[in-house]
Amino acid sequence: MTKLQFEDTEDIKISKGVFDRRTLLTLHNLINKKKIKSVDTILKEGKESNVFLGKDHSNNPIAIKIYRIESCNFKNMWKYLIGDNRFRTVKKDKYFVVNLWCQREFKNMTLAYNANVDVPRPIFCKDNVLVMEFIGDGNFPAPRLIELRTDGNSLYKKIVKDVRKLAKIGLVHGDLSAYNILIHEKPYIIDLSHGMMLSNNESFDLLKRDIQNINKYFSKMGVKTINEEKIIHEIVKERDQK
Ligand SMILES: Nc1ncnc2c1ncn2[C@@H]1O[C@H](COP(=O)(O)OP(=O)(O)OP(=O)(O)O)[C@@H](O)[C@H]1O
Ligand SMILES: [Mg+2]
Repeated sequence: MTKLQFEDTEDIKISKGVFDRRTLLTLHNLINKKKIKSVDTILKEGKESNVFLGKDHSNNPIAIKIYRIESCNFKNMWKYLIGDNRFRTVKKDKYFVVNLWCQREFKNMTLAYNANVDVPRPIFCKDNVLVMEFIGDGNFPAPRLIELRTDGNSLYKKIVKDVRKLAKIGLVHGDLSAYNILIHEKPYIIDLSHGMMLSNNESFDLLKRDIQNINKYFSKMGVKTINEEKIIHEIVKERDQK
């Protein structure tokens, strides 16, 4: 771990090479403006981001998701963003794309949270840094569903209910699986950056894949799952009744 000193601020400990200069500046500003108090330990090095445990100014734990600029799959993100009709003009610039990607996750998380879907409470997003409620106990993040290998029938029903709630507000997660669900008394859906509006053409394929992933996981655990076509049919019926 490298320890960085910021004048008049808390220290920031980071793992070597994670942050580029702009990200450091963003974090520096967030600390100076007292939007966050500290970035402490790394929770997870993901494919596109690193998630840290930090603190806000009331010493509450927060999860800080920092999208990497250098090693991101920028072309893939760009392709996804131009396919999202909420973001029509997307400059082919790495910083622009990663920041927009982060904003997209924040936007999707806010939509979901306001619709009472169990997702971490979104706090704010600045550049490539997304700050949200920390789901876990003390310094320990909640386990992912995949790590629990639980056979809960009610857990399955709750997740399907949340998928329906998302669809009701026109949102599809787009990357739902047992890897993107944290279990902390109840299931919390995370990693919403791939979220698409149902008005997008390909969104039903994503919805189908999301339900298939969940069904596959729970079937293996012996849960009697609902056919994905049936769930989608009901979602469409409900939408058309509006
Ligand atoms: N709000 C949170 N509270 C606690 N832990 C979290 C939170 N958000 C993310 N994490 C942890 O960080 C991990 C990575 O988060 P996320 O899936 O959002 O990022 P990612 O870059 O897409 O990672 P991956 O490549 O693993 O999918 C999660 O699996 C979880 O362990
Ligand atoms: Mg993930």
